[in-house]
Amino acid sequence: MISNRMSEKLKAGSLIRKMFEEGNRLKSIYGEDKVFDFSIGNPDVEPPFEVTSGLKDLINNPTPGMHGYMSNSGYLSTRQAVANKLTRSGHTAFSADSICMTVGAAGAMNATLRAILDPDDEVILLAPFFMEYRQYIDNHFGKAVIVPTDAGTFLPNIDRISEAITPRTKAIIINSPNNPTGAMYPASTLEAINTLVASYEHVIHIISDEPYRELVFDGQEAVSTQDYIDNLIICYSWSKSLSLPGERIGYTAVGPRHPDLDVLVPAITMANRILGSVNAPALFQKVIEKAMDAKVDVALYENRRNLLYDIVTSSGFTCQKPQGAFYLFVKSPDTDDMVFSQVCARHNLLVVPGSAFSMPGYFRLAFCVSESTIKGSSVAFRAVSEHYGLNPAQS
Ligand SMILES: Cc1ncc(COP(=O)(O)O)c(C=O)c1O
Repeated sequence: MISNRMSEKLKAGSLIRKMFEEGNRLKSIYGEDKVFDFSIGNPDVEPPFEVTSGLKDLINNPTPGMHGYMSNSGYLSTRQAVANKLTRSGHTAFSADSICMTVGAAGAMNATLRAILDPDDEVILLAPFFMEYRQYIDNHFGKAVIVPTDAGTFLPNIDRISEAITPRTKAIIINSPNNPTGAMYPASTLEAINTLVASYEHVIHIISDEPYRELVFDGQEAVSTQDYIDNLIICYSWSKSLSLPGERIGYTAVGPRHPDLDVLVPAITMANRILGSVNAPALFQKVIEKAMDAKVDVALYENRRNLLYDIVTSSGFTCQKPQGAFYLFVKSPDTDDMVFSQVCARHNLLVVPGSAFSMPGYFRLAFCVSESTIKGSSVAFRAVSEHYGLNPAQS
C-alpha cells in the first residue's frame, strides 16, 4: 500500500507532463516536424563553452577527494564564488556563510520550506505560478494561500496580499522573471512587498525563486531582489541560465538583512541533508565555480520570443509580451482552457492550460524549442484561430 496522500497525488498527475506525453504520442504518429510542442520548459539550447571546458578541466586534472562528501552547505570556494557574484549583481554584500548549495531550485525551495514551516503554516502564492510550488508546500505540511496578480500585467497586487496575510503566514513566494507569464517585477513592486511585510510583528519570509534571473530581454536586467527585500531567501538554479536542468545544481542565499539569518542558514543546511540530498552534486559545484559569469545565448531566446509573439498575436490571440524567462501566457479564446488545449492538440499544437498555473482562461507556450518548430506552428495557430472565429492580421 502507498500512502493516501501519495495516491491522491498520483491520481491528479501533472497537466504539463500529460501534454508532453500527448506530444510524444502525436510525434510517433505524424513525425517530429509535424507536431508543435510548446508544453515543457526544458531548454533546448546547449550549455555555454565554459561548462564543457570546466568539466574537461576537472576530468583531466582530478584532485584527491573530488567525488567525496563535503560540508552539507557545499564547498566553501563555490559558496564564496556565489556570494561574490551576488554582491557584484547589486548593492548588497553577501558572505559565503549565507549560501547553501542545493539540488536545483526545487531542492532550494524544499530545503527552505522545510526550514521555516510548521504544520498548517501558510504560504502565499501569487497566481499564476509554477504549479510545483503547491507540492513543495504540501511536502512540508504547509497550506498554500492563492492570491491572484493584477490582470494584464501579472504583477503582485499588494492590497490583495495584505488581505490574505494572517498570523499563520510564514512566507510569500515571488518569481521574477516569471513562469508562466514572463513578467518582471519593477523595483517599486519589491519595495511595496518589503514595506508590507515589515508592517507585521511576525517575520514573513520572502522566498524569491529566481531561476530565470539572467534570461531577460530588450537590453534590460532583472531588478536585484537583495537591494529591496529584507526578509529575503533567494532560491536559484543554473537549470536555465546554463541549460543544466538534469545536473541539479542551485543554491539558497539568505539576505544579509534577514532578521533570522543566523538560524536560517543552519536550518536550511540541515534540511538539505535530512531531505536526502545531503549536499549538492560535487562535480557540478566545481563546474559552476568555473562558469560563474557564463550564460546561454539569451539573444537566441529573445529571437524566439519575437517570432512566437508575432505568430500568436497576428493569428488573433492576445498576450503580454514577456520581458524574460521563456514562456508566453496567452488569453484563451475558449472560456474552458482545458477544452482549448484539446482543440489545439487536434491541430498537433501542444499548449498547457492556464488552470495548471491556477489561472484558468489562459494557456502557456514554452518557447525553448527550435526556430523551425516556432515557424512551422503558424499554420496550426491560424487553424485554431479560425476554429474560434478570431480576427487574424492580414498577411
Ligand atoms: C519558476 C520555477 N521554479 C523552479 C523550477 C525548478 O527548477 P530546477 O529544475 O532547477 O529545480 C522551475 C523549473 O522549470 C521553474 O520554472
